[in-house]
Amino acid sequence: MKTISIALDGPAASGKGTLARRLAADLGLRYLDTGSLYRAVGVATLQAGGDPGDPAAATKAAETLDIAKYSPADLRSEAAGNAASKVAAIPSVRAALLDYQRRFAAQAPGAVLDGRDVGTVVLPQADVKIFVKADFEVRLARRVAELRAGGQTIIESRVREDMAARDARDSNRSVAPLVPADDAWILDTSAMNADQAFTAAKAHIASKLNA
Ligand code: CDP
Repeated sequence: MKTISIALDGPAASGKGTLARRLAADLGLRYLDTGSLYRAVGVATLQAGGDPGDPAAATKAAETLDIAKYSPADLRSEAAGNAASKVAAIPSVRAALLDYQRRFAAQAPGAVLDGRDVGTVVLPQADVKIFVKADFEVRLARRVAELRAGGQTIIESRVREDMAARDARDSNRSVAPLVPADDAWILDTSAMNADQAFTAAKAHIASKLNA
């Protein structure tokens, strides 16, 4: 049986994680949040007393990563997100995580992967590629609500600065920058709630898989 692979890429708080999880459940596919791998490498580097921007320290953390050691609570903080976007700019860190992502996607019945470079680098042959985007202010409001709902005390101006810095780092890095694949379908969720984004993405996937 042929496996199905669906790539969802996009910037921070664009809604890709929520959408990817829901699509995977609906389609009976496995789900991988590739950002959690970079977040875990960032956290592991910090825990070892290293600097996430230091290639040697971050690469060592990536090559010895045990993803099962980290709970969602360890990984969803702003500190983890910022450390993630620093280790993610290091080519040897990305190389160390590539195989795991491809092997995950290759297992039956297939998978939905969300991240920054799934459609461009990890799975260039994905059956469906969706690039999820939303206006900066909309993404900021979503991230602030997400962090508060998770019980974190946050300063909105700090989250704004961190998100702008992370957008710039992710888009301008030389390795696997955040860009839509040439054959990606663009889904702008600025004016959509989660249900509307799901309905739109599902219709697009059905049209691609039945084409
Ligand atoms: O949820 P959010 O979009 O804020 O972050 P995430 O998807 O968990 O990703 C955290 C960071 O990991 C991003 O800012 C990227 O720098 C990096 N990342 C990446 O480089 N490539 C991926 N496929 C996924 C995440």
